[in-house]
Amino acid sequence: MLDLIRSRKSAFLLRLNDVSCCFRPHAAALVFLTLLLTVAGYSQSAAQATQPSATSQSANPPGSSASEYVGSDVCKTCHEDLARHFERTAHFATIQDKKAAPEHQGCEACHGPGKAHVDGGGDVSKIISFKNLSTQEASKRCLTCHSHSNEHANFPRSAHAQNNVGCTTCHDPHHPKSERALLVEKQPLLCYGCHTEVRAEFDRPYRHRVKQGLIQCADCHNPHGGTLPRQLRASAEQDQVCYKCHREKKGPFVFEHLPVRTEGCSSCHVPHGSTNPRLLKVSQVNQLCLQCHTLSMSSVPSQPPIGPAHNQAQKYQACTMCHAFIHGSNFSEVYFKP
Ligand code: HEC
Ligand code: HEC
Ligand code: HEC
Ligand code: HEC
Ligand code: HEC
Ligand code: HEC
Ligand code: HEC
Ligand code: HEC
Ligand code: HEC
Ligand code: HEC
Repeated sequence: MLDLIRSRKSAFLLRLNDVSCCFRPHAAALVFLTLLLTVAGYSQSAAQATQPSATSQSANPPGSSASEYVGSDVCKTCHEDLARHFERTAHFATIQDKKAAPEHQGCEACHGPGKAHVDGGGDVSKIISFKNLSTQEASKRCLTCHSHSNEHANFPRSAHAQNNVGCTTCHDPHHPKSERALLVEKQPLLCYGCHTEVRAEFDRPYRHRVKQGLIQCADCHNPHGGTLPRQLRASAEQDQVCYKCHREKKGPFVFEHLPVRTEGCSSCHVPHGSTNPRLLKVSQVNQLCLQCHTLSMSSVPSQPPIGPAHNQAQKYQACTMCHAFIHGSNFSEVYFKP
């Protein structure tokens, strides 16, 4: 029954749509439309005597009934440009999903039920406007659909959410600068807007080529938060994010260099950028090794890591000249070339 009424109404409005093509965007046309729509609204509420009156309805979706939703075709009659763009975005899928309830479809999935707004000729107090929502309230609306994926499930606990950075800080469903993922700004500019110190790191002589677009911030970090520190992503195997691209460092090796696994890549590398080749933390490789490998035998000899037995004469200073497979080896317990 409700569906029948809804479809009759949209047929009516389709005709209206044609009318609006000729009259838009004149104020007179709006008044005309408003009048027609108000009539439409009255005739519909007459048909549904059990309906509460439009004026007593709040723009809050919980508890609102299906008949307060008019469908996106109706919104299109007055918001044509927004609707046309909308039809080209991923959210159009919500309309195509015919099984979904009206509160999960189209414009009203985000803006809430639109009947009162329409009946009021575009009464802005009768529709959820994101201008009037706090960052958290706006995110909540998005999460009614998006919290089901792993990607977003941890958002409320993320450093972003906790610092008042919400979905609509980074995304704009209507006027995105980057159509890909509806971003308000392309990466990495989006992130640099707030993380200026990180920009400087990626300007260092040795760095991951984020600026050139070879790698993106979101390859390593999940801007929506996660379970790892620094919102880092795990690679497919739920392992360190670095293995996603540097698979050959993962092994397993017969002779693994223990810190690669236990302390991670960041114990020797600066992940963003460095003034040292190979993104190393220190400029001389021997200084790096000697942070852990003491020259003299450790006082507890069995305690790893053991120091090099050889001295620190010049020829030994470029440690990785000889210990070339520093991330692990299947042939040499001291990581020499096979
Ligand atoms: C009868 C014409 C009409 C229809 C139909 C209509 N609107 Fe509006 N809407 C307006 C007018 C007029 C405004 C106020 C002027 C503006 O901001 O463009 C408005 C404003 C809005 C705003 C902005 C509120 C603000 O202040 O930020 C939203 C959101 C909105 N409409 C959503 C919808 C949705 C969703 C639908 C469909 C359910 C819809 N409108 C249908 C006429 C209409
Ligand atoms: C995915 C959620 C979402 C959907 C779906 C959505 N909107 Fe919006 N809408 C927003 C957000 C967020 C803003 C605030 C954007 C901003 O501040 O720039 C907004 C703003 C608006 C505005 C204010 C004016 C403007 O240009 O920003 C209007 C009008 C509007 N939406 C109408 C619609 C209509 C009509 C549809 C369906 C064709 C629709 N919206 C679908 C989230 C949505
Ligand atoms: C009614 C459910 C629903 C709501 C509410 C909703 N979305 Fe979506 N969103 C979807 C669906 C469905 C898709 C397309 C399939 C997918 O990627 O999961 C999508 C896709 C997206 C995409 C990916 C776009 C692309 O081009 O790949 C972004 C970004 C997005 N939504 C952001 C938002 C934001 C921000 C809000 C709140 C303002 C929001 N969504 C509210 C259902 C919803
Ligand atoms: C700090 C900025 C930021 C915030 C906050 C943010 N996003 Fe995103 N989001 C991004 C970026 C960047 C991407 C693109 C990731 C990529 O390129 O793989 C993205 C991608 C997406 C996608 C597409 C995912 C895919 O796999 O294609 C969806 C859907 C989405 N965001 C929804 C949301 C929702 C819902 C919220 C709020 C709960 C939100 N985002 C908050 C930055 C953000
Ligand atoms: C609107 C500002 C804003 C934008 C845009 C933004 N961030 Fe953030 N980000 C913050 C704030 C605030 C924090 C929490 C305080 C802090 O750690 O700096 C944070 C925290 C983080 C953290 C966690 C840091 C930690 O110490 O745990 C990471 C990682 C991060 N952001 C990455 C990104 C990425 C990647 C992007 C782009 C997709 C991005 N941010 C966009 C403001 C922003
Ligand atoms: C190659 C992977 C990778 C890329 C790409 C990357 N990060 Fe990071 N980022 C990391 C790792 C790993 C850490 C943790 C470093 C640590 O804890 O020692 C980190 C730490 C951070 C932090 C915490 C504060 C800090 O500096 O330690 C922020 C904020 C951050 N990254 C933002 C960004 C932004 C913004 C981008 C893109 C411009 C980006 N990251 C690109 C791997 C990456
Ligand atoms: C999205 C893929 C990707 C991820 C994730 C990634 N890297 Fe890289 N990495 C690259 C690429 C591609 C290069 C080559 C860079 C170039 O040529 O500009 C590179 C280069 C490097 C180099 C320098 C190699 C050289 O010859 O100078 C180091 C060291 C490095 N990555 C470490 C890491 C660490 C540590 C992590 C984890 C925090 C990581 N990478 C995560 C893609 C990635
Ligand atoms: C114990 C210190 C140490 C750890 C831990 C470490 N590296 Fe390295 N890595 C080095 C050194 C030293 C070099 C430079 C080797 C040379 O000079 O030839 C290097 C070079 C690299 C290079 C560039 C040359 C090559 O071999 O491809 C990449 C890429 C790299 N490391 C990635 C990683 C990743 C990814 C991790 C974590 C899985 C990691 N490293 C952990 C010390 C380390
Ligand atoms: C973050 C600490 C750390 C750094 C930095 C480090 N190592 Fe190690 N190294 C270890 C640990 C721990 C072991 C394991 C010792 C054990 O299993 O007994 C080890 C083992 C070794 C071994 C094998 C010793 C054996 O007999 O098992 C060699 C060779 C070695 N490291 C060389 C180097 C070189 C060369 C560098 C510099 C490029 C370096 N290490 C940097 C911690 C480190
Ligand atoms: C000229 C080649 C060469 C250079 C350079 C070199 N080593 Fe070695 N290293 C060796 C040899 C040979 C061994 C003994 C291998 C064996 O036991 O078969 C060794 C063994 C080691 C061991 C294993 C424990 C031990 O003493 O037997 C460690 C740890 C080590 N070196 C660390 C370093 C560090 C740190 C540097 C840089 C400061 C370095 N090496 C530079 C050739 C070199």
